[in-house]
Parts: sequence; structure tokens; C-alpha cells
Amino acid sequence: MRKIIGERQRCKLATKIVIGAQWGDEGKGKIIDILAQESDVVARSQGGNNAGHTVEADGVEYKLRLTPSGILNPETTCVIGNGVVVDPKVLLGEIDMLKEKGVSADNLKIDLRAHIIMPYHIVLDGLMEKARGKSDIGTTKNGIGPCYSDKAERIGIRFADLIDEEIFPERVRENVEKKNKLITKIYDGEPLDAEKIIEEYTQYAKRLKKYAADTSVILYNAIKAGKKVLFEGAQGTLLDLDLGTYPYVTSSHPISGGVCIGTGIGPTLIDECVGVMKAYVTRVGKGPFPTELFDEVGDKIREVGHEFGTVTKRPRRCGWFDAVIGRFGVRTSGLTSIVLNKIDTLSGIGNLKICTAYKKDGELIYDFPASLTELAKCEPVYIEMPGFDEDISKVRSFDELPEAVKNYVKKIEELCDCPVSMVGVGPGRDQNIVR
Ligand code: GDP
Ligand code: IMO
Ligand code: MG
Repeated sequence: MRKIIGERQRCKLATKIVIGAQWGDEGKGKIIDILAQESDVVARSQGGNNAGHTVEADGVEYKLRLTPSGILNPETTCVIGNGVVVDPKVLLGEIDMLKEKGVSADNLKIDLRAHIIMPYHIVLDGLMEKARGKSDIGTTKNGIGPCYSDKAERIGIRFADLIDEEIFPERVRENVEKKNKLITKIYDGEPLDAEKIIEEYTQYAKRLKKYAADTSVILYNAIKAGKKVLFEGAQGTLLDLDLGTYPYVTSSHPISGGVCIGTGIGPTLIDECVGVMKAYVTRVGKGPFPTELFDEVGDKIREVGHEFGTVTKRPRRCGWFDAVIGRFGVRTSGLTSIVLNKIDTLSGIGNLKICTAYKKDGELIYDFPASLTELAKCEPVYIEMPGFDEDISKVRSFDELPEAVKNYVKKIEELCDCPVSMVGVGPGRDQNIVR
């Protein structure tokens, strides 16, 4: 034990978590790809192919949904941790896509405890959304919620089961029988054929078996050996099942605490926690959004920032930067720094607004409310700052940024009570300003 502590002291700041600190799509993929170039291991801990992380490297765009964004670095071991839900078909499609672009997935490890998204999860996601009618969540319909529900109900199929030729058919038959009752009797849908699923998924298992591992051991040994380990968040703080805008959330834990459970690594082994934010806010799907813009400014941000879903192509709702949300991210994930992306998108839109607090029944509220009823009554309180018209996409030092941009960044730092360590001025690997 002493020996481990000794080694950890020598490799200070070797483990880093990067999470989304808003409603997802903050540009996590780009940051992970950059940090992965100096990391030995990159691990995903939660979510599944509801995530869509765009990485632009050497002029080539990669849209990654399940594979950690570190995959582009051939030296990096990439881990899909126990907390991730894996759609084998999507993962194999991604591995093939990478291969076509000359990227090998040989350094991928999938945890044996990770749960598998089965066809009935995808069917049920769609049917349940339809049945919710006007109260739908706006899920990605990828089976994420139903898969996590089965995990909690303790009837899920794990990666260890998928690659076990004896157990897998049995588990599928049991589950399909139950789910078919639900699909046909409650949701009026078409039943699924267990034998067809077994045949198809057995083929996936054969191809994926070589990636199987107990990844908590891999991560622990890497940390113990003083290697650099990066934990890649998916989704964002306000989509967290416990702390987000429930029920308009995903079914996993995107906040930093989720990393420990989703990778089997204890909190004392984590050194840094970086929160990725956009210089404004976006949201896909339904749910409250206090600073949402319904005017031409919102349309311009969507157009200039290409704010359309990576996975579903849905237009993202856009709004002003919200420091109440920023502080919430800093608090709930214990952020040690902020990466502020896409500030270039705000060029030419006139004065910039930042929400500093909410006002409800004449009272100022500084902490993000737990109750959606209370949140619905909240009006954003804004400060207005001078905007900028310059193209800043080629600027590489903070000092060279227009005064208005510098002041905007400093104000966000002050309001969120957390330093901004990096500013994004474009989608490319090199389009960042490190402070
Ligand atoms: P993620 O899910 O958090 O990884 O984010 P997405 O990839 O879904 O969405 C972020 C989008 O913004 C992607 O298309 C990125 O290429 C792009 N992007 C990231 N950082 C910047 C930036 O600083 N400026 C601009 N203009 N685009 C960026
Ligand atoms: P990345 O990692 C933005 C949203 C969906 C929906 C809600 C629940 O790219 O930031 P789900 O399919 O998870 O049950 O849908 O969560 N959502 C995301 N929004 N970015 C994501 O991931 C998201 N993953 C899920 O739009 O509102
Ligand atoms: Mg995304």
C-alpha cells in the first residue's frame, strides 16, 4: 500500500476527468483528442451511443459515439468501462469506419461488466417515447434508458454473458419472452424473434471477444505505474440522472462522480477534473432551458455554430451562457478548471449577455433549482457586455484576443468561481488557446 502512495506522489496530476458541464455537445471530443496525445489510457465510463463526439484531426472529421476519442492516438489504450452501455452492432460499425480511415482499434478494451444494448431496448425506447405523447423526453431512441433500467432491475445482459456461448442464448430467450409481453400487450408493438437475435449477436460476440478485459485492473495498474490516464465524459451535467433536469435527463451519471462507479476506480485516485462548456448554451431534446433564445440571435448561433445533433441531426436549442449552470457544474463535479469552447461562434452577433442569477417571485436565486416547477418560474437575470466582430479562429494566444473576448472569458471565470484553462476558437486540434 505504501509503495502505491509513493508512486502516486511522484506522478502528480496524472489522472484527469473531462466532463460536459452543460447539456452535452460542449466539444468534449475535441478536448479529449488533444489531451489523449499525451495520455497512456483514455476511458469512457458511462452512456453509450447516445453520445456523438466530433473530432477533427489533420482535416479529417471523425464522429465517435462509443469508442473513446483517444482512439486516434495509436499509442493510447482505449477503455470502454463497466458503466458504459454497449450496442455491439454500432461499435463494430465504428471499428470498421475507423479502419477505413486508417485508424486501428487494436488498442481497445471493453469491460466484461459493461451492459449490452439489445434490440428490445431499442424497440422499447421508441415505443415508450411514443406512448409518452406530449410528455416525451426526446431521447436518441438508441435503447439507452431501457438498457440501464434492465441493469437496475438485474436482468441485463453483460459483455461477459454476450461472449459466453452457453449462457447467452439462455439469457436472450428469457429476456425476449418477457419483453415481447411488454411490447405487444402494453405498447401494441411487433414481437421479436429470440433465435434471430441469438444468431446475429453471436456473430458480433465472435468479433468483439478479443477486446474483452477487466478494465478496472488495467486502469488501476496504469495509475499505479504513474501513467497518464484520462477519463472521457459523455453527455453533460444537466443530463445526469440524479442531478440533472429530471425527468429530461439521460439514464447514467455524466458528472465526475459517475467516473468512479463507471470505471471501478476510487475517487482518491483522481487528480484533476476539467469541465467543458460552450461560450453559450445548447440543448437537444425536451426540458427546461432558462436562457433559451427564440429570436434571430439564437438562429444565428445555431447556423454559425453548426448546432445540429451529431447522432440525430436534430437542431440544437441555443441560448446565452448561464453562470448559474456553470456554478452548478463546478460544484457537482468539483471542477478544477473550465475549457470554454466555441467562443469564435459569437463573433458578429452584437452585445453578449451572461445570465448571472435567476429571479423568482422577486427573489434572486444563485443556485440551480432542484424542482422543475420552481425552475419554470425562474427568469434569467442578465449582464450585458460588448461583443466583437473579429474573426478569432486564427488567434493562438490569449493576449492577442480582442479586449471584448478577454473580458467575456474573465467574467465567466469570476461568475463560475473557477479558472478557464483553455479557450476554443475553432473545431480543429490546433484551434485552442491554452492559458
Ligand atoms: P461533444 O459531444 O461534447 O464531443 O461535442 P460535439 O462533437 O457533439 O459538438 C461540438 C461541435 O463543436 C463539434 O462539431 C466540434 O467539432 C465543434 N467544436 C468544438 N470546439 C469548437 C470551437 O472552439 N469552435 C468551433 N467553431 N467549433 C468547435
Ligand atoms: P454528448 O456526449 C446532448 C439527451 C437526448 C435527450 C436525453 C435522453 O454528445 O454530449 P437518451 O437517449 O440518453 O435516453 O436521451 O439526453 N442526450 C444528449 N444531448 N449530447 C449528448 O451526448 C446526449 N446524449 C443524450 O437528446 O434529451
Ligand atoms: Mg455530442
